[in-house]
Amino acid sequence: MSHLISASILNADFSNLKKEIEMINTSETDWFHLDIMDGVFVPNISFGFPIVEQVRKYAQKPLDVHLMIVEPEKYIERFKDAGADVISVHYEACIHLHRTVQHIKSLGIKAGVVLNPHTPVSVLEDIIQDVDLVLIMTVNPGYGGQKFIENSYKKITRLKKLLTEKGSSALIEVDGGVDLSNARKMLDAGVDVMAVGSYIFKSGNPPETIVKLKEA
Ligand code: DX5
Ligand code: ZN
Repeated sequence: MSHLISASILNADFSNLKKEIEMINTSETDWFHLDIMDGVFVPNISFGFPIVEQVRKYAQKPLDVHLMIVEPEKYIERFKDAGADVISVHYEACIHLHRTVQHIKSLGIKAGVVLNPHTPVSVLEDIIQDVDLVLIMTVNPGYGGQKFIENSYKKITRLKKLLTEKGSSALIEVDGGVDLSNARKMLDAGVDVMAVGSYIFKSGNPPETIVKLKEA
């Protein structure tokens, strides 16, 4: 499988959201990445259900919803109803991660688990067989436009090894500070999906930047 690009709209122009969605629709992007922040799990507040619903109304590609919130288990149905195709919850935010993963899958959508930069891949040993996707945070969650953390390459390699050992076909996604300077090295380490925000939306020509990321 060639790698996928999940465009993070966090840095899109929200006063022209429909136009931004249409740009993504006609580009080579594979998924829309939606960052939900509650001001508690992360020191920032982004957007919630109304925006996800509006994106769903116009998006012609799957919605990859990244929950940076405490007690995400309370809102799984609401995000599914708002249009999510993939829901990823943080390992650090879930006391009963196995139950939450099963809940997401019971709704007929993909379940992802997210690891913060300080959380080792080894915590996934007993859940990896149940998840569809693992999202490695390559910055500390909370903001777009941050610097990529170099230790991430090692984590991706370790995760790839764990997936092989366990016979898991879970996808590996990375999120934060992804650009053309680090994409190839991450892909070589085993990444399947790259969530990219500012590198796309702050570039002079987003569709062309997306083509370059697809060809990375
Ligand atoms: C960070 C978010 C990311 C963010 C990525 O907490 O989870 O999805 O939007 O943005 P860039 O690509 O600008 O680092
Ligand atoms: Zn994200």
